[in-house]
Amino acid sequence: MITDALDQIKPMTRMSVAEEIVSNLRTMPPSPPVAFKLFFMLKNRNLMNSDVVDVIRHDPDLTAQILRLSNSASFHGEEPIGTLEDAVLRLGYNLIQEKVMAITFGQLSLVSLSDYGVDPVDLWRHSIKSALAAKILAPMCTKKKFDTNTAYVSGLLHDIGKSVLNVTTRREVGKIRMAMEQEGLGWSDAELLVLGADHAEIGGLLLERWFFPDEIVSAVRYHNDPELDPHGVAKLIHVASACARCSDHNVWDEEEFKNMLKPYSLDYLGLDIAAIEEVIGRVKDESRGIELFMSVTW
Ligand SMILES: [Fe+2]
Repeated sequence: MITDALDQIKPMTRMSVAEEIVSNLRTMPPSPPVAFKLFFMLKNRNLMNSDVVDVIRHDPDLTAQILRLSNSASFHGEEPIGTLEDAVLRLGYNLIQEKVMAITFGQLSLVSLSDYGVDPVDLWRHSIKSALAAKILAPMCTKKKFDTNTAYVSGLLHDIGKSVLNVTTRREVGKIRMAMEQEGLGWSDAELLVLGADHAEIGGLLLERWFFPDEIVSAVRYHNDPELDPHGVAKLIHVASACARCSDHNVWDEEEFKNMLKPYSLDYLGLDIAAIEEVIGRVKDESRGIELFMSVTW
């Protein structure tokens, strides 16, 4: 039985296979520098605008995009901006962080996902939508408290292991696809069967190597097995990812949404199913804005 085979792939095996895959990583950057430096900087309450400007200005592409964003249609009627200092003031730290992360992750997945079998734009879109859904859901959870930045970044990066797999295991991609088609398995189970580790474990390990905070590492590592996450962010990302998937469709289907979730998820977070349709509507609206912004760049 295929399920017995999957059960036999013990957690320790998954861990060592993931270690080997991440160690073989040559072509992904050691850590996307500007985006992640900013992420950690923005957690510091005594941060000065000049610190943020100093980090961004080392990346000319990013500088151009931040300036363009600060002069975009959303700020129509305001004075045109020509310096990074003014752009940071106008946009604010949170918006800057979201945009920088979105841009960097988009570049990363486009470079690395050419062979994995997932359309890189689809993966980027799903990641952005999951990040937005996590950010919107975070303050709505009545039984758990989440930091919205942590929620956003965890949603954005939850599938980063797919980018790693494409770079390191190109030859196995066909086998993974075949396992999905012939055995009717989902991505994670097919990866487990063929490689001995799945993209969630691999993504979590990568972020651990990049010294990400524990709760983001766990959120990524356990987004498909959220009951194993000691911090609870994985449960938020699990629900956010389902919202992202539903936002791809025109019509809200409550049954379809529930079928994507582990049954305890909503209750654990203290989320009401009645609010989800509205969350999905907001995800659709906000992601349209980001796509418009990114489409000029790509
Ligand atoms: Fe995933």
